[in-house]
Amino acid sequence: MKDRYTFKHSSRVSKYAVKTATKMGLERARIHNLFIASILHDIGKINIPEEVLKKPAKLTDEEFALVKKHPGDGAEMLRQTAYADLADIVEQHHERVNGRGYPFGLKDEEILTEAKIIGVCDTFDAMTEDRAYRKAFTAEYAMNELKQLAGIQYDSAVVEAFEQVLLEEGKIS
Ligand SMILES: [Fe+2]
Repeated sequence: MKDRYTFKHSSRVSKYAVKTATKMGLERARIHNLFIASILHDIGKINIPEEVLKKPAKLTDEEFALVKKHPGDGAEMLRQTAYADLADIVEQHHERVNGRGYPFGLKDEEILTEAKIIGVCDTFDAMTEDRAYRKAFTAEYAMNELKQLAGIQYDSAVVEAFEQVLLEEGKIS
């Protein structure tokens, strides 16, 4: 209700995430949890003031600091519910394998595979959607960006599996 963009984005991310996890051979229960975690991954954004959430320009450092709270806020919300076991996935979806992500700066093997999968699908979907301040990039362009950053920001095996999914769906050639 607060942000239709985030709702639609999360729904697309969940579809990509399930397909990527299936391609990687994750077991059924983990894929099911990943599906729910990806729908809820940005739930913490509910705490971000609407004028920041929908600002059609670059954020100030102060505003970006507010945005950076959303993985932790989301995790905290989930820890009070029956979905508590998904909290770590939500909390880690902006962590990056080189340790430059947030909120903790976790490195490669410290990051859950599920969070790495959401990280890749999330970035791809964000890049291939129009934003208030820029037009959408093509799927090819976004995929190339992910490949450039594989092993640096994104998990190489996840990027590879995701590329297979896009190839099979005819989204890239
Ligand atoms: Fe996020």
